[in-house]
Amino acid sequence: MDQFIAQLSGVVAIGLYVFVLSYVILRTINAYSPLRVSQEAEDIGLNIAEHDSSSDHIDLLKVMQYQAETGNLSVRGPEDVFTEAGQIGYHYNILMEKLEESGKVMHRQKKELQIAMEKARSASQAKTDFLAKVSHELRTPLNAIIGYSEILMEEAEDDGLETYLDDLTKIHSSGDHLLTLINDILDISKIEAGKMELYLEEFNLKDFISQIVSTTQPLVEKNRNELVVDLDESIGTLRNDETKLRQVLLNLLSNAAKFTEAGVIKLKVSKTTRGRVKFELSDTGIGMTSKQLKTVFEEFMQAETSTSKKYGGTGLGMPISKKITDMMGGNIDIKSKIGEGTTFTITIPKIIKEKK
Ligand SMILES: Nc1ncnc2c1ncn2[C@@H]1O[C@H](COP(=O)(O)OP(=O)(O)OP(=O)(O)O)[C@@H](O)[C@H]1O
Ligand SMILES: [Mg+2]
Repeated sequence: MDQFIAQLSGVVAIGLYVFVLSYVILRTINAYSPLRVSQEAEDIGLNIAEHDSSSDHIDLLKVMQYQAETGNLSVRGPEDVFTEAGQIGYHYNILMEKLEESGKVMHRQKKELQIAMEKARSASQAKTDFLAKVSHELRTPLNAIIGYSEILMEEAEDDGLETYLDDLTKIHSSGDHLLTLINDILDISKIEAGKMELYLEEFNLKDFISQIVSTTQPLVEKNRNELVVDLDESIGTLRNDETKLRQVLLNLLSNAAKFTEAGVIKLKVSKTTRGRVKFELSDTGIGMTSKQLKTVFEEFMQAETSTSKKYGGTGLGMPISKKITDMMGGNIDIKSKIGEGTTFTITIPKIIKEKK
């Protein structure tokens, strides 16, 4: 028995020694010259005989992988008309060439676009600066013309010089008209340049509306119209830019008064279910066709070219009103029927929150 154990230990010891020795030798050889192909190569079917050898398949795959990882499309895959992989490589390279070329074109176009945008931005800035300067320069002498014509009108009246009064009134109203026009153009360019801001304050809606009504009364009566106001007094106060909201409502009211004769103009102010305030201004005037409705908010567009001749105006009132309402987070809606009348509906938030 003892002899058997001694022999068994000898065999195990020699076996272990041979195993460890051959493992170390094989590991050393494998480190310098791999005895197996990589897992990746094995997966696509290479065997020991092709060990470490490259193939078009592998090279093409490596190129694809490199391109995917680096985004560099300038490297090309192997081409060979006699192998399938080589043929795929050939077409793949053509594709890459086209991709590379269109990438370059896109890069060039992007640069050109950036330059064009920069130019447009500075041109728009120059236009706004120019308009701001010009309108300021024009407004000063214009105010003098308006002021002096007023003085002369009073003097002519006092001195009984009725013959001059008519012409002086024309000078005065033309000056007034020109001033409105200059202010409108300045407003549009300010809005376009993103320079118009809202000055938010709280104000009482009832006082605000009665002030607007008294301002527009002469205009309304000019065409023998009647103005009816229906105000929900429970609305109380608004937080908004009072001057700009007044400008919008005056634009709408002056249009209603201008395009209606011996009719009714109704201003209804109410609350909406979503905590907003709704201003509905309807008239029984000339109305607009659906084609005319489409251009109402375009600058210098009057519904009909004959409009400016007959009714005056420039076609800036509505575009300005629309842009201001947009700034307030509101919207304008129009319903109109030719010969029957028009209704403008403005909905704005009751409280406009300060931008952070
Ligand atoms: N209540 C309305 N009834 C009929 N047509 C209208 C009414 N409001 C606007 N329009 C049409 O829309 C056009 C554009 O209105 P907008 O207020 O922008 O210009 P305008 O009144 O002609 O000129 P401006 O307001 O610059 O003095 C008007 O010319 C008119 O044809
Ligand atoms: Mg108008």
